[in-house]
Amino acid sequence: MRQPKSPDLRPGYPGQVNRPTILLDCDPGHDDAIALVVAGAFTRLIGVTTVSGNASLEKTTRNALLTCQLLGLEVAIHAGASRPQIAEPRHAEFIHGASGLDGPALPPLTREPAGSDAAGFIVESASDHSDLWLVATGPLTNVAAALLRDPKLADRLAGIAIMGGGSTFGNVTAAAEFNILSDPEAADRVFRSGANLVLADLNLTHQFLLGESHIDRIRRLGGPVPTFVADLLTFYSTAYARAYSGRAEGPLHDPTAVLALSHPELFERERRHAVIELRGDHTRGMTVVDSRGSHRGEEANLDLLTRIDAEAAFEVLLAAIHSYRGGS
Ligand code: BDR
Ligand code: CA
Repeated sequence: MRQPKSPDLRPGYPGQVNRPTILLDCDPGHDDAIALVVAGAFTRLIGVTTVSGNASLEKTTRNALLTCQLLGLEVAIHAGASRPQIAEPRHAEFIHGASGLDGPALPPLTREPAGSDAAGFIVESASDHSDLWLVATGPLTNVAAALLRDPKLADRLAGIAIMGGGSTFGNVTAAAEFNILSDPEAADRVFRSGANLVLADLNLTHQFLLGESHIDRIRRLGGPVPTFVADLLTFYSTAYARAYSGRAEGPLHDPTAVLALSHPELFERERRHAVIELRGDHTRGMTVVDSRGSHRGEEANLDLLTRIDAEAAFEVLLAAIHSYRGGS
């Protein structure tokens, strides 16, 4: 497994102690691709599954294959759902471009998916690995399908770390975040599954903003992987400026769900009860988090990540990128 080799990084960040076993269910997507970078460096990544989300399933699968190829990660990639069961498919071209991974120059694809039954692969992996965490950084269609296929899955998994929702605001509508709004019925199944859930929502990920000075430091590491990540972030932060804030910086959503497992000390968290709004003229897809005193509401069903040490998290990200030095 990769470890940073004599990294030319700022001193001070403690070495990683935790290397969780994970399967990453994703829809790359710029920040999903960077989540793969972190997962390849700091977890025991046993597989990747793809889902329709930021782009079509065909594109997200291609992007996952290309990213693993570029990183030199020998990991099985299984394609999954090409659309939600009920909701209409939704993509995020305005942030991720037409390919879902616009920006970097990518090599010709030489790899192929290992299968097309993501839900089956998730169920099988949970049988093979008793300590398996599912990290979900796209719409929850595959995860819900796996929970439906194996009613014991929620108990057999160590947990599910999800990037999704916004406990006080949305990014597609005023109330709803992209991953949850893309398949609210699937999200509802996952949130009610009884699995050990960890949630990185928009309130958390918007504390981890990367802009020009971060991109410069990544690019200065030199080599194909730093260049890939820097080019991704340049496109992504420009798209965020255009779509939202006017400032050239973007929240690095998806890597936080991986870091929550590999570097839990970077986070503060609170036990909360949360449900998904399935109806509502203005609120479909909203993640309704109960922040009242616990004696008033229902029993907590997740760990809500409330704060991230963004400076330390960036140092960890740099170390992850640096660990691919000399790679493909
Ligand atoms: C989420 O939506 C996608 O565009 C990103 O990849 C992330 O998973 C943020 O709302
Ligand atoms: Ca994503």
